[in-house]
Amino acid sequence: MNTASPSSRIGGFHKLGVAERIERVARFAGLAVDDQVHLSDTGNLPVETADHMIENFVGTMNIPMGVATNLRIDGRDRLVPMATEESSVVAAVCNAARQSYDAGGFITSMSGTRMIAQVQLTGVSDPQHARIRILERLEDIRAMCDACDPVLVKLGGGFRDLEVRVIDTRGGAMVITHIIVDTRDAMGANAVNTMAEKLAPHIAQWTSGRTNLRILSNLADQRLARARCVWPLDAIGGAEVRDAMLSAYHFADADPYRAATHNKGIMNGVSAVVLATGNDTRAVEAGAHAYAARGGRYASLTTWEATASGDLAGAIELPMAVGLVGGATKVHPTARLALKILGVASAEELARIIAAVGLAQNFSALKALATTGIQKGHMALHAQNVAMMAGALGEEIDHVAQALVAQGAVRIDVAEVELGRLRGR
Ligand code: MEV
Repeated sequence: MNTASPSSRIGGFHKLGVAERIERVARFAGLAVDDQVHLSDTGNLPVETADHMIENFVGTMNIPMGVATNLRIDGRDRLVPMATEESSVVAAVCNAARQSYDAGGFITSMSGTRMIAQVQLTGVSDPQHARIRILERLEDIRAMCDACDPVLVKLGGGFRDLEVRVIDTRGGAMVITHIIVDTRDAMGANAVNTMAEKLAPHIAQWTSGRTNLRILSNLADQRLARARCVWPLDAIGGAEVRDAMLSAYHFADADPYRAATHNKGIMNGVSAVVLATGNDTRAVEAGAHAYAARGGRYASLTTWEATASGDLAGAIELPMAVGLVGGATKVHPTARLALKILGVASAEELARIIAAVGLAQNFSALKALATTGIQKGHMALHAQNVAMMAGALGEEIDHVAQALVAQGAVRIDVAEVELGRLRGR
C-alpha cells in the first residue's frame, strides 16, 4: 500500500490551462467532481480576467458585498459598497450613519495624495555628508523621477519633495532617502517604486555607498484622510450612553491591548470599502496600524469628545493610499461597479468616504460595547450563518435563526433540531 502523501512539487503549474490546474489540484486533494465544478464557476469575474490577475489561478473566493445606507458625507448622500465576510459590519455603519444623518452627517478632508518611496543606502563612512550630497541633487532627482512617469506629470502629479534621514541600525548607520511623489488618482505603488529603482544607482554613485532596498513606504502619512461627525445627545440615547462611549475610547487610547481591537473594528469598515473597490487592503491596514503607533505607543485611530452642548464628537485620521486607476480597481468588474455606485470622481473623494465609514464603524462598536454588549446584535446575524451551516435553505434560514436567538443558544446542534422540527411540520 502506498501511504506517501502526494507531492506539491508541480513543475510548470503556472503554464497549465485553468481546467488542467483544477484537475491537478483535484488529484492532489482528492476533490470530487462537484468540487471541481464549484471551482470552475467564477461567477461574475471572467476566468480570463482572474487568470491574468494572479499566478496559478484555480478559482474565485466570493465575499458578500453590501451597501451601507444613510451616509451623508460632505453634504452629499452616498451608498457605500462594502465587501466583508463578517456579519454586522454593514449594519453597524448603517446604524451609525442613521443616528448622525439629521444632524448633517460626516465632514471629511485630506492632507494630499503624496506617497513616499524609500531608498536605503549603506556602507558610507560619512553618512551626514552623504545626506547633504543627496539633498544637493534635488533638481536632478526631480527631473529623473518626473521622467519616469510623464503621464502622471501631465495629470498634475509627479515629484514633490525630498527628505534624507540618517538612521542608526543594528547594521550601522544608514542613509534613507525619501522621494515624495503626488500620485493623484493612482494608489501609486508602481509609480514610486519605478522612480526609486531608477534613482538608486545615482545615489550610490554620488555617495560612494551601496544602495539596497528601493520600495514605497506604507506609512503614507502624507496621504491622511480625515472625517469628523457630531452625534446629537438625544440621537444616541443620552448622557449616560455618551459617557460610557467616551470611557471606552479613553480605555482604547491608553491601552494597546484594547486599542488593537478598537482599531480592528475601524478597519472592519475601512477594509470592506477598500476591498469592494479593488484596492489594496493590506497596504491600507499596514499604514493605519503604523500610524496608530506614531507616538511611540499603539493608540486609537479615532478621538471622541463631548461638545460644549453635550453632543458626542468623533474624529478619525489615518493614511489612505487608495486609487481609482490601475490594479484591480480597473480590471475587476465588481470593483468598477462599486466605484460607479459610489460615484467618486477622484481617489481623494474615495479616501475621504472610507475615513467616514471607519468612524461610523467605531461609533457603532463603542455604542454596542458600552451598552448592550456586542453579542446581541452580532448573534442575531451570526444565527443566520449557523442556520445555513445546519442546512437551512430559503425561508428556513430566518425561521431557524429566530428560534436560535429566542432560545439564546446560537449553536449548530440546536439549529439542526429546529430545522428538523420545521421540516417535520
Ligand atoms: C469585531 O469585529 C469588532 C469589535 O471588536 C470592535 C471593538 O471592539 O471596538 C466589536
